[in-house]
Amino acid sequence: MSGVITVVAPVNIAVIKYWGKRDEELIIPLNDSVSATLDTNVMCAKTSVCVSPDFVKDEIWLNGRKESFTSPRLQNCLRGIKSRAAAERSVDDAFLSWKIHVCSENNFPTAAGLASSAAGYACLVSALAKLYKVKSDVSSIARLGSGSACRSVYGGFVHWHAGVKPDGTDSIATQIVDSSHWPQMRALILVVGDHRKKVSSTKGMKISKETSELLQYRITKCVPFRTEAICQAIRDKDFAKFAEITMKDSNQFHAICLDSYPPFAYLTATSMKIIDFVHKYNDICGEPRVAYTFDAGSNACLYLLEDEVPKVLGVIQSLFPSSTPDSFIKGLPARVEPVDA
Ligand code: PMV
Repeated sequence: MSGVITVVAPVNIAVIKYWGKRDEELIIPLNDSVSATLDTNVMCAKTSVCVSPDFVKDEIWLNGRKESFTSPRLQNCLRGIKSRAAAERSVDDAFLSWKIHVCSENNFPTAAGLASSAAGYACLVSALAKLYKVKSDVSSIARLGSGSACRSVYGGFVHWHAGVKPDGTDSIATQIVDSSHWPQMRALILVVGDHRKKVSSTKGMKISKETSELLQYRITKCVPFRTEAICQAIRDKDFAKFAEITMKDSNQFHAICLDSYPPFAYLTATSMKIIDFVHKYNDICGEPRVAYTFDAGSNACLYLLEDEVPKVLGVIQSLFPSSTPDSFIKGLPARVEPVDA
């Protein structure tokens, strides 16, 4: 007996950012975060896992290149799923002992602040869970690959609870609403640069945790209230509130990068031009109709409602004439879907 499972998992873009770890090894965050999972047709990872008694060792290919399977994060995800399968007695011991081959690819730039690792690990863990017939929540296992990956395990809007337990078992993602709740919601990704980021999120979080006073303020005084308020805005479909919190949280995250010592910055002059444009656009409209958010990179994610998309795209094309329609990727919140069983 052997088996192949293929799964696709979309990226998620946070509106309340995760920045800083309470536990580096178990990837337990210092604060709760909230995100929307984008459409699988747009930006996603596709992973196939294959198991066979004939394989001599675990092996992985990423975007066509063979990589080492020795990374602790990969090992932790595989070990996490196997021990869950053993606890649930979902497959027999022989099946659990066979080696696996993994093949994963992204349809967008890797490590350029486009949440590639989130989609990649969510996809890997979802595929492994299907292979080993694990039924329980696997977001805490995806978290061991890359923190934000735990949010891509679910579609729609997702809340990652930081949790309080030292072992991280309560640091899990839950769905706030599914993708059908707010069907007019759109995300527009503006690809500013697809180069690899200079300061990885792991390194950046460490510097911020050790040196930024603003980070401490954020965790205690801002995130708890913002998280509650944005979850409510999502449930009420209150776009203006959603947009204001999203933009303020992105700005605070990037302010923390500058408040770190030594400081680092992900936003470029083009990112700042996009921020200016959004505020001017919203001022003209008399209310927030577009929200920007930036992860650990210069690319923008704009959240907006469907009706606004043609108008906003028109203005962006006139502001950035060298951009082609291909520079923009549109997406809807969607759920993780197996494409082949
Ligand atoms: O999961 P990581 O290590 O790729 O960190 C993600 C950090 C941000 O993208 C900046 C914020 C977030 O919540 O996704």
